[in-house]
This record gives sequence, C-alpha cells and structure tokens, in this order.
Amino acid sequence: MAVKPEPQVGIMDIALYEGGHATLDGHTDVVKLSSNENPLGPSPAAIQAFQSASSQLNRYPSTDHAELRDAIGKVFDLDPAQIICGVGSDEIISFLCQAYAGPGDEVIHTEHGFAMYRISTLAAGATPVEVTENNRVTDVDAILAGCTDKTKLVFIANPNNPTGTMIGGNEVARLAAGIPKGAILVLDGAYADFVDDFDGGADLIAQHDNVVMTRTFSKLYGLGGLRIGWGYGPKAIIDVLNRLRGPFNLSETQMAAATAAVLDVEYTNHCRQENARQRSWLISQLCALGILCDASHANFVLARFSDAETATAADLCLQKNGLIVRGVAGYKLPNCLRITVGDQASCERVIVALKEFKGQNQ
Ligand SMILES: Cc1ncc(COP(=O)(O)O)c(C=O)c1O
Repeated sequence: MAVKPEPQVGIMDIALYEGGHATLDGHTDVVKLSSNENPLGPSPAAIQAFQSASSQLNRYPSTDHAELRDAIGKVFDLDPAQIICGVGSDEIISFLCQAYAGPGDEVIHTEHGFAMYRISTLAAGATPVEVTENNRVTDVDAILAGCTDKTKLVFIANPNNPTGTMIGGNEVARLAAGIPKGAILVLDGAYADFVDDFDGGADLIAQHDNVVMTRTFSKLYGLGGLRIGWGYGPKAIIDVLNRLRGPFNLSETQMAAATAAVLDVEYTNHCRQENARQRSWLISQLCALGILCDASHANFVLARFSDAETATAADLCLQKNGLIVRGVAGYKLPNCLRITVGDQASCERVIVALKEFKGQNQ
C-alpha cells in the first residue's frame, strides 16, 4: 500500500468555517448584515492611527504589544500583564485549545455555540462535547452535568452568538465554581461590549485561577477587517498562551488602530447607544410583523420563523431586496435567520422586505 502524508487526528473532521456572504448576483446596492459588523465603522482616530502606522511598513512590529495592552488595561481597569493580544479572539481560542486540550481530552461548548470552539478543539486533536441550551439560553446545569474528568475547557459566549441571549453574573459565577478544577472556563466576550456596565466576567478572574475571558475589536470597535482580539486571565495561563503565540502575530498597523480605538471611549459609547436604539426598533418591528425573537444583548437579532422552509423563503425575499443576513441551520437553528443590527436605513430595508414577505405568505 502506498504511504502518503496523513494529517493529525481530528483535522479531517473539521467542516470549513463559512463566513457571512458579502455579495449578491445582480445587485449593486447590497447591505451586508451577515457578520455582525459595526455599520458605523471604526473610530476616526483608529483610521488615522492605521494610516500613520503604514509609513513604517519596513519595520517589524513590537512583539510584546505593550502599548495596546496598556491601553486596554487602562480603559477596562485590568492588569496589562494579564492580557494577551491575538489575531482576532479566534487566535486566543485556538491557543487555549492547543495549550490545554489534546487527544483523549474533552472540550465543552453549548448547543448553538460559536463554530470556532469545535474547529479549534478538533484541530488540537481533542473531542468537542456539545451540551444542550435551554430554549436558546446557556444552561449551566447542563454544562456542569456534561463535565467529566476528561474536560479541559468549557466555552460559553455571553452574550451568545447566534442567539443574542445572555446569562446573569450569578449563573456565570455558579459555573466558574462548579467546573472541575483542572478545566478552564472560557468566557467569550465578543459581544460583551454591547452590554451596558458589563465587565464580561473579568471580576471572576480575580477569584479563580481557571477562568479566562476573550474579547475582540471586530464587533463594537468596527475593526473586523484588521483581525485583533485579546484574552485576559490568570498570569500563569497567559504565560502558557504566550509561548504558543508567534512573536510578530500582530502588525504595527493593527496595534496602532486598536490602541486608538480602545482609547476613544466617547465613540465606543456612541456606537453602543446607536446599536441599542436600532436593535430595539428592529425587534419591535419584527414583533409587529409576528416574527418572534429573543431579547438580544448583542448587535444582531435572531428572527424565528415557523419552520425551516419559511426561514429559507424569507431569506430569499431579503436577498431579492439586496439584503444579506445569516442562515443559521449550521448552528442547529434551521428556522431562524440572524440579522445584524445595521444603520437605520438598513434596518428599515429589512422591515420593508419582510413586510413584503409576510404579505405574500399570509
Ligand atoms: C462568539 C464569538 N466569539 C469569537 C468570535 C471571533 O471574533 P474575532 O476572531 O473576529 O475576534 C466571534 C466572531 O464572530 C464570535 O461571534
């Protein structure tokens, strides 16, 4: 038998991640509402910092990200020595799996949890374990019941994607206290910035040496195109992750833009308020059309239809009107569409298109 190169265990079980589509054949005036991007874009200060950093492209970037970590630490009142920066929070998720899970180990994620938890787990050769949610809400009891002595990581996103739901601080604290001491609880805060006065669970990190938080510049900060995220955790864990991190994983342009973005607190607050305003308008209009959605704490809403066929038909109607939203059948929600909260004009276009759809399908 011919010998050929074989990838490591788990790699061929990975289904390729599918990003939100950005174009529609035959449409020029397309609105992309499929990737939870900030419709207002990044802070003007971030764009300016990016541009001025581009004059030094011949220079290698800083390896320790000190300036960016200091800025994050200042704004979020965190110790910069406990922060690690990565190529999106995806990279931090991947470091966690590589460092703490391998063949024979289990990594828990919830029923409708973010796809990268499973992908990074398989890439590390470990076994993803899915636990049920309670009507699209993270179920702490189900997670605790799913823990075994093989559990090495537990991922929850709070708020969750693609559901937009969130659990309260007491529930997260109960989870942190209940998981095996040899496992790490990862609090994915990609959407934490959209919640008023919420620290993403950072307070729990002071109390436990096995809790880590991940955050991103891709959502509220409007820098999805630049790929910058960060993690915060006990020093011992951050030290482990830094050993896996490439020395030049972030460019100076990325770091300059992110530093300026995080320091522009006024712009960040403006974006958060705008999102909350448009989101409540969108939800109220969807409800008026008889389309159900859970209370969302993020920058998207999950619209629920009676069945998968109706959701697909609604998606086609939106596409006909130049609107790209996200079908979430891959997240075990075939009767739902995830719609990013866009600017006012985009939200209005969504409602006009869905009114047309409802008119045709009563
Ligand atoms: C829940 C959640 N976590 C993490 C990420 C990764 O974001 P990024 O790698 O852009 O920081 C996303 C992106 O959609 C997400 O929805």
